[in-house]
Amino acid sequence: MATTDGMPQRSESRSQRYALALDFAAKQLRHLSETCPDSFPIYTVGGKWLHGGEAWTNWCEGFLGGQLWLLYGRTGEPYWRGQAEHTSRLIEHRVKDRSVHDLGFLFWSTWKRWYDLTHDEAVNAVVVEAGQTLALRFKERGGYLRSFVADESLFIDIMMNVGIIFYAAQQTGDADLLRIATQHCLTTRRYLVRGDGSTAHEGIFDTATGEFLRQSTHQGWRGDSAWARGQAWALYGFGTAYRFTRDARFLQTAEACANFYIERTPAHGVPPNDWDEPNPVLPYESSAAAIAASGMLSLAKLTGDPARAILYRDYAVRILDTLTSPEFLAVETPGWEGILKHGMYHQRKGLGVDESVMWGDYFFLEALSKALGSESANQRISE
Ligand code: GLY
Repeated sequence: MATTDGMPQRSESRSQRYALALDFAAKQLRHLSETCPDSFPIYTVGGKWLHGGEAWTNWCEGFLGGQLWLLYGRTGEPYWRGQAEHTSRLIEHRVKDRSVHDLGFLFWSTWKRWYDLTHDEAVNAVVVEAGQTLALRFKERGGYLRSFVADESLFIDIMMNVGIIFYAAQQTGDADLLRIATQHCLTTRRYLVRGDGSTAHEGIFDTATGEFLRQSTHQGWRGDSAWARGQAWALYGFGTAYRFTRDARFLQTAEACANFYIERTPAHGVPPNDWDEPNPVLPYESSAAAIAASGMLSLAKLTGDPARAILYRDYAVRILDTLTSPEFLAVETPGWEGILKHGMYHQRKGLGVDESVMWGDYFFLEALSKALGSESANQRISE
């Protein structure tokens, strides 16, 4: 059966399913905002958001506000605008935070969305300052932005944050910011991305000489294994680096990372925490899948190859079809406070294991919004 515009009926029901998932997300977020205002939980325990629990590092405080901005962008409802502005203002002081490598996570999801929706230059100034602060982590010896752990440490996760330095460089015309961001991406590409497109979580350098010493991990199985969330950060982050620079090396790397994800993941699109872990304790790391879906929707627009554009877009839709099923979407799980189930934060530390995680919910909403938005831009999601 076809709709009036000739598209198959199932395509219509997919859009409806994604819209219903966003409606469910709104319900969960309204509950969280009203029952625990001004709280920034990172993961659930038994489906209930843990307030004031162990964080390991403070990198997630933008993802709640980011979801509120996404809901405002989708609905235009003043309620979401008020919640989003309030929640974003609560993290404004973090613009000077030199203790974490996550200022992109914090400010791109919140203040940058705010700026995009309002064009308020005072808001943009905060985004630019966040990029300038992040750039202060650059280690000239080694050529990378250091992780929160130590001077010697480079994380793959920083690929998701370096975009805000490219943005600050673009806004200010500061050539040194562009140099720092570009060098960080080249160093990450050289030492953390392997020949098969897989990625290492961490690189360790000799701080005296800048020599690269070894690959390592915190949240994956081992230093030479492929941690799924790191892979998702890489495919998305190198795509963003390409979007800012049009440097073909970054597109090639983003595609190699995406191709590895696709090759190694079961047909439903959700990887385990680490592809190389023998007999993984849990089959799913849903947040990696949500990040990959959003990253691939962007990559589909960035790649110049029409066949790969279809591959990435269809694969992202496949992931979203899986994540909107009741196995992952908590819509049929009474009392569950998060949106996506089966996420993983830190397996070794026992934090957020088989739970909802705030960034997983954020990137899931971002991917759904992109999928539905591209549909209205005449790029309808096909079966
Ligand atoms: N620290 C970022 C992550 O857990 O992916």
